[in-house]
Amino acid sequence: MPAPATGGSQAVTLPPPPPRPTGRRHEWTLRAAARPARLLGPDGPESQLWTYAEAPLPVLRASRGDSILARLDNALPEHTAIHWHGVRVPNAMDGVPWVTQPPVLPGESFTYAFTPPDPGTFFLHPHCNETGQVGRGMAAVLVVEGDEPEPSHADLVLACKDWRLDAAGQWLPFLTPQGAGRAGTFGTLRTVNAQRAYAATIPAHGDIRLRLLNLDSTRLIMPLVRGAEAVVLAVDGVAVPPFPLGAWRLGPAMRLDLLLRAPAAGAVVEVLDQFPREPFPLARLEAVASPLASPLAPRPFAPRGLYAPEIPRPDLHRAERLSFRFTAALGGGSMGAGLPPGDPFAALLLDALCAAGGSLWAINASVWPAGEHARLPPPLAELVAGRSYVFQLENLTPHPHPIHLHGHSVRVLSQSRQENPPHWADTVLLLPREKAEIAFVAAPGNWMFHCHVLEHLETGMMGWFRVRPR
Ligand code: C2O
Ligand code: CU
Repeated sequence: MPAPATGGSQAVTLPPPPPRPTGRRHEWTLRAAARPARLLGPDGPESQLWTYAEAPLPVLRASRGDSILARLDNALPEHTAIHWHGVRVPNAMDGVPWVTQPPVLPGESFTYAFTPPDPGTFFLHPHCNETGQVGRGMAAVLVVEGDEPEPSHADLVLACKDWRLDAAGQWLPFLTPQGAGRAGTFGTLRTVNAQRAYAATIPAHGDIRLRLLNLDSTRLIMPLVRGAEAVVLAVDGVAVPPFPLGAWRLGPAMRLDLLLRAPAAGAVVEVLDQFPREPFPLARLEAVASPLASPLAPRPFAPRGLYAPEIPRPDLHRAERLSFRFTAALGGGSMGAGLPPGDPFAALLLDALCAAGGSLWAINASVWPAGEHARLPPPLAELVAGRSYVFQLENLTPHPHPIHLHGHSVRVLSQSRQENPPHWADTVLLLPREKAEIAFVAAPGNWMFHCHVLEHLETGMMGWFRVRPR
């Protein structure tokens, strides 16, 4: 059942706290390199991951107002870049090869410099050969703190990602014609924080913040908390008036921040994915006697919510309306379907570096060309900075598509098949045949606009829009 929409009209988020430049500066080095890891277990075989740090899926933390200098050193055998998913960075820091910067070639470096304008839960990933690079582990979590009126007692990241490995720890093809032409190719191993069975302890009776990220290329997740009261605090990093977690679906790239009240010491909270028929355990959180000076006592659970970020509010009366139809490419759908499973020619064709697997999908009948972004197609739309827009999105396919706009947080005005409370997002899930409306104030630059099922964006369901300065 869809989550009941709770009174979005009465409930309000807390206004933003006064801006407070912290003067803090983070200098991070993210070395993209091949590193072995035993994802299949401590006694299992090694797999060759590509990661940004020694451990896969590292978590970077900063605060709102901090300045970030992140140097990418590329020690991979192919070019890469860093896209800061969901962060409203200046366009030149958006990390899309050929669109916002030259690709960072093997042996080269590039420094990203920005001050994240909004607190929240974000992530980063490359924007070329995404199935291959993200598939091998190229992703990291970015937490921007500074939205809690009172600090939680624990803050846990749950980064969900599947891996396509055979029993010997070797990679299986990341892009398959069968998967690309349908809902995507699923992993063979599910993990949270790159662990098969993620467990942690939490302080008894504490308020626990969970930052849940769907970093998978394909999978939809519907989180469920058993053994504790829980509310949603933020969607895609943006504060919402707290509402009970119902049937929220997280497509690839979507995030949800939860607050739960830990039970008494000894009790266990389970976080599950209730999307599959057999719910899948994401995390086992055991409450332990609080190590705090004055242990917490049982008390009513009444979350205050988070400070809201300062996102420009679209003017819905004056907004220009544009519509975008997400479809199969004309005559393209047969490509995957026509090839027998495991066809070696198809695999060769599709798994080549940065080579998209042909044209299976389209946005407004325009297909992102196979190959490099170097051959930039015309923009899907031309906007003007500072003006308000409503995008009407329509999924004309039988598969879900999480649609992501770079550089903006958008107000989700309506969703025809999901009853979600009002919220902002950077990635909007369109269920099969679903329509949605989103609104935002355009920021200057060239911004990508695509489905975040990685096989879909690599087979056509990607475009960009230009926002001219006023
Ligand atoms: Cu996380 Cu262009 O996407
Ligand atoms: Cu898609």
